[in-house]
Amino acid sequence: MNKETILKELEKVSYPGLDRSIIDLKIVDDIVEEDGRPLLVLSMQNDEAYEILRERLQDLFDGKVTIKRKKIAQKKDIHYGHTSSPNNRAPYAKRVVAVTSGKGGVGKSTVSVNLAVALAQKGFKVGLLDADVYGPNIPRMLGTAHETLRWGNNDKIIPSENFGIKIMSVGLTTPTPDTPLVWRSSVAVSALIQFLEDVDWGKLDFLVIDMPPGTGDIQLTMAQELPITAGIIVTTPQPVALDDVSRAIMMFKDINVPIGGLVENMSFFIAPDTGRRYDIFGTGGGETTAKKYDIPFLGQIPLDMQIREYSDNGTPPVAMGDDSQKRYYKTVADRLLEQIL
Ligand SMILES: Nc1ncnc2c1ncn2[C@@H]1O[C@H](COP(=O)(O)OP(=O)(O)O)[C@@H](O)[C@H]1O
Ligand SMILES: [Mg+2]
Repeated sequence: MNKETILKELEKVSYPGLDRSIIDLKIVDDIVEEDGRPLLVLSMQNDEAYEILRERLQDLFDGKVTIKRKKIAQKKDIHYGHTSSPNNRAPYAKRVVAVTSGKGGVGKSTVSVNLAVALAQKGFKVGLLDADVYGPNIPRMLGTAHETLRWGNNDKIIPSENFGIKIMSVGLTTPTPDTPLVWRSSVAVSALIQFLEDVDWGKLDFLVIDMPPGTGDIQLTMAQELPITAGIIVTTPQPVALDDVSRAIMMFKDINVPIGGLVENMSFFIAPDTGRRYDIFGTGGGETTAKKYDIPFLGQIPLDMQIREYSDNGTPPVAMGDDSQKRYYKTVADRLLEQIL
């Protein structure tokens, strides 16, 4: 079996749990000859995914190819801004920050919004792209939900603006905010690429992207179409959320998305009447997970009724909340900046 035959076969093999071939994801490191047999070297971090893939490949090649893996750790000093040579659909943005989570409902959008506003408060030019096609609720959180898509004279889409940031959301493409999007992922991907290319963002210091949860096609496409400066992962501290997060971290490492850090949301609850603290989803799980995977921990945000209210009312807590609510998000922004500036 020669290299070309092997490569051809590998094009049909997808990464476990995803719709993308391992060639596409640049996981195949090398194909050489060793002791008269072809040797296939895979560059993978994720033990579970590697085992599944190894078995599949053994079957595929009938055991005639030796399969090995190279487990390279991401080096802190080199990985920012160095994804595996992606395209750059957003040359107007100095840095791209992608916020994601293992599962939905953990506060990913709330973190995206307040991080974007916190960066704008520091004087940076910030754009926020709502790329969560399954739950585009950024416009509501920033009080722009009544707006619809507008085109400028230069044939570019005019982004909404509020709290000092430019905002674009897939939610603006539906007639009402509660119309469900029933796009296939390929359609969603083209819409997002259009938002990167055809929105009049101007020059940006930061493009913050609220990604869909999980590890699907949209995340992968964004990682291939944009040089992501830092991926941020939001989680709650409970074990089921952390399992999903681990998968997201491992996949990002495998496709060389630099991870800017992990945010633990809904970390604890302080009862407003008694001041007593309750660890509703457990405690410390985020920081332990961050340590385990050697990624920066960007902070804890408590479960706070006002954070929910401010968000629902289109007034981000980092702008309108009390000092402690502001501080939680400013800390996340500061720690992120320490990583990437
Ligand atoms: N720290 C928090 N305290 C209270 N409510 C929160 C907090 N973070 C998020 N929420 C609320 O939880 C819900 C889900 O948050 P959201 O950011 O939309 O999650 P995701 O984008 O991950 O689905 C929203 O109603 C939001 O206002
Ligand atoms: Mg969301």
